[in-house]
Amino acid sequence: MGKQKKHILLFHLLFLHLLLAGVQVVESKSHHHLHGQNQVHGFSKLFAFGDSYADTGNSAKSTSDSWHEPYGITFPGKPSGRWSDGRVLTDYVASFIGIKSPIPRQWMKYGPKLVKFGINFAYGGSGVFETSTPVNMTVQINSFQQLIQQGLYTKKDLYSSVALVSLAGNDYNAYASRNGTAEGLPAFISSVVNQLALNLKRINVMGVKTIIVTALPPLDCLPLRTLSSSFQQCSETDNAGVIFHNQLLQQAVDKLNNQSKDSTFLTLDLYRSFKTILNQTALPAGNMKFDDPLKPCCMGVNSSYSCGSKDENGVRMYTVCKNPKTAFFWDMFHPTQEGWKAVRLLLDSYLFPPKP
Ligand SMILES: *[C@@H]1O[C@H](CO)[C@@H](O)[C@H](O)[C@H]1NC(C)=O
Ligand SMILES: *[C@@H]1O[C@H](CO)[C@@H](O)[C@H](O)[C@H]1NC(C)=O
Ligand SMILES: *[C@@H]1O[C@H](CO)[C@@H](O)[C@H](O)[C@H]1NC(C)=O
Ligand SMILES: *[C@@H]1O[C@H](CO)[C@@H](O)[C@H](O)[C@H]1NC(C)=O
Ligand SMILES: *[C@@H]1O[C@H](CO)[C@@H](O)[C@H](O)[C@H]1NC(C)=O
Repeated sequence: MGKQKKHILLFHLLFLHLLLAGVQVVESKSHHHLHGQNQVHGFSKLFAFGDSYADTGNSAKSTSDSWHEPYGITFPGKPSGRWSDGRVLTDYVASFIGIKSPIPRQWMKYGPKLVKFGINFAYGGSGVFETSTPVNMTVQINSFQQLIQQGLYTKKDLYSSVALVSLAGNDYNAYASRNGTAEGLPAFISSVVNQLALNLKRINVMGVKTIIVTALPPLDCLPLRTLSSSFQQCSETDNAGVIFHNQLLQQAVDKLNNQSKDSTFLTLDLYRSFKTILNQTALPAGNMKFDDPLKPCCMGVNSSYSCGSKDENGVRMYTVCKNPKTAFFWDMFHPTQEGWKAVRLLLDSYLFPPKP
């Protein structure tokens, strides 16, 4: 690899660190043996795992709101299985590294050429353990492993790939719905982070050297939790658990970085970025303003219905705001495209703060 290319890559890795970690800048490592790729930034493929923040169309059509109107009205213009009015985290990470968004795993039936930019295995509703979906993260990684064993990607392909792993809290919803106790929660959080760390390591051992994992967003600020205050304030109830999860995750990521010479593990700090955007007084730039930042654009007419649902006669049982661009949250759990764009912009501005 030429010297210049290596510099671009180093710069890029450092950029990723700053952009994604926000807080913790891990020592940059270079990929000394990266060859023969054409991407400007040096990465050729993205493999995504995890939940609805990353899913671009794997959830089952028969059961997922994400395949019903008004999901997808902004992009691609109709429901695509994305849990938003438009693009989601995976799309922005792909554009950041200079490639097209990878196809959802279930599109592979349409032909092998489509896998050029990687594959998205993420599945809405999933976690590391059992949740409401059958496709936990282990199953997603198994699917990736099978494709590698079948020779779909070379070692070199994997070496120049990025993995995005999204875990936004479905394990904790499942814990609550099993009536898990508050006393048992710290131990459960530890087991979730341990399993997550094992999953990251496993993806790494398969040959992917750059792995990005999301920190939990502030779950107490999601519309589901702020509904009771008419979307006026974060409920604070889950905050201690979220902070504990994120601390354990950062420790696990530090440890993984310590243990591996040729790999880089990064934390994408959804906690700090969501918090900053939701606190509209403290924003660094003017293009992230949301009128009523905790209020979702789309919601069911009452608690029996969700965004996208209809009654037995096919009558819409939800309301949608006039302009999704004015909302940070799309539904009870997920940001709008504009919301994800703001997360991305905000993280950029940590690196390139606007001139006074
Ligand atoms: C993931 O799901 C599979 C299939 O249901 C199950 O066998 C496995 O134990 C699960 N993994 C974890 C870590 O819960
Ligand atoms: C959890 O508690 C609720 C209310 O007490 C009860 O209705 C429900 O059956 C319980 N669920 C489980 C899985 O134990
Ligand atoms: C990483 O390694 C350094 C130096 O060996 C050590 O001081 C530090 O405690 C390690 N950190 C973790 C999280 O293992
Ligand atoms: C919002 O930001 C302002 C200015 O930095 C700060 O004083 C305030 O405590 C923040 N509020 C919340 C809820 O974080
Ligand atoms: C929700 O609205 C529907 C239609 O107006 C009504 O039949 C149902 O009882 C309502 N459910 C709740 C929980 O208010």
